[in-house]
Amino acid sequence: MSGTSLDGLDIALCKFEGAGKDTKIEIIHFETIAYTQFFKTEVQSIFSKKMVDLEKVCLLNAWIGSQHAQMINDCLFKWNVKNEDVDLIASHGQTIYHAPKHLHQIPEFGNATLQIGDGDHIAVKTGIVTMSDFRQKHIAAGGEGAPLAVYGDYILFSKKDENRILLNIGGIANFTFLPGNLNANEMFSSDTGPGNTMMDNYVQQNFEGISYDKDAAIAKQGIINNELLFELEQNEFFNAPIPKTTGPELFNMEYLNNALKCNNNMHLSKYDVMATLNKFTANTITNAIKKSMRNGEFVVYSSGGGMQNPLLMQHIQNDFSDIQFKTTEELSIHPDAKEAVLFAVLANEALCGGSTNFGEGIPNVSMGKISFPN
Ligand SMILES: Nc1ncnc2c1ncn2[C@@H]1O[C@H](COP(=O)(O)OP(=O)(O)O)[C@@H](O)[C@H]1O
Ligand SMILES: [Mg+2]
Repeated sequence: MSGTSLDGLDIALCKFEGAGKDTKIEIIHFETIAYTQFFKTEVQSIFSKKMVDLEKVCLLNAWIGSQHAQMINDCLFKWNVKNEDVDLIASHGQTIYHAPKHLHQIPEFGNATLQIGDGDHIAVKTGIVTMSDFRQKHIAAGGEGAPLAVYGDYILFSKKDENRILLNIGGIANFTFLPGNLNANEMFSSDTGPGNTMMDNYVQQNFEGISYDKDAAIAKQGIINNELLFELEQNEFFNAPIPKTTGPELFNMEYLNNALKCNNNMHLSKYDVMATLNKFTANTITNAIKKSMRNGEFVVYSSGGGMQNPLLMQHIQNDFSDIQFKTTEELSIHPDAKEAVLFAVLANEALCGGSTNFGEGIPNVSMGKISFPN
């Protein structure tokens, strides 16, 4: 798995038994292989931009596939696992553009998303059958191509008599609601807005040599600016009904600069901007959950890099005084590994599953395309 944060490739070696609600999974190894600055710079040159060098898109599609294959080979070697002992790779690829219709608003076109890092390169370079490009089928079946977490969340984590929210805070934040009555028709999943993406981008642009606000050290030094916070929250995305998805195509530095200009806040200190972005991110998460969970008790299980941001988590938890917060660690899945594991579940479902009913609001389709090594 490689998310919108562009921090690295998450590689999880999983052992599966069964499929659907009978899936048993053991995570044997997990590691995030950090991307080099060169990798990040190259991907950022085309990432979530409307106008790009098309040759670069073409080159990167093959190159990212090869790079990911090399990282997988290196990891397997390090773990002392032979490539021929691995049945399958599930590869998400790198999203370079996410364009749900509500974002592009071009009447002639529907929902669209694009992940590159072609699976053929991974299959040939690792010698392992590879499934990739999971999101297109979801769009073909009426979805926005995201969040796909709902399938694996339902399979691995739904629990009788406990209403659960699985909250993942990556570059973009999303959550899945799993009802304790196990009725799939009541289940839903949606993006909430920015996770780490705006904070990461702001830090990268304004603090030399740092890629994210580790432990909220920067945001903690600032004061929340309520005018800026109000302005940031004025976007129709937040009023649209769920499920909905979004990306850095909307929540980016242009979005921040427009909000800063709106109330002449261009003079704000970098620390105050970060404090405000942190609170904004928290508010978008809590508001989305509160709007869709008007009554009833639930337990929140967090995952993703954003849960390591103590100020962000404190803001979120302050808004839910009577709700229990746990992490997916308590469900036996390391919070950093969860998204990668969920794509392995999707691949397992496409190959061995197929009989699970995910409810009316969610496309009931298999996802992923197969690449053979030869
Ligand atoms: N100690 C930390 N303090 C604050 N933020 C953190 C910390 N560790 C990770 N993060 C955030 O998590 C992000 C990575 O999250 P991740 O779940 O990998 O997202 P994605 O799925 O988009 O790649 C980093 O870019 C950073 O913003
Ligand atoms: Mg990541």
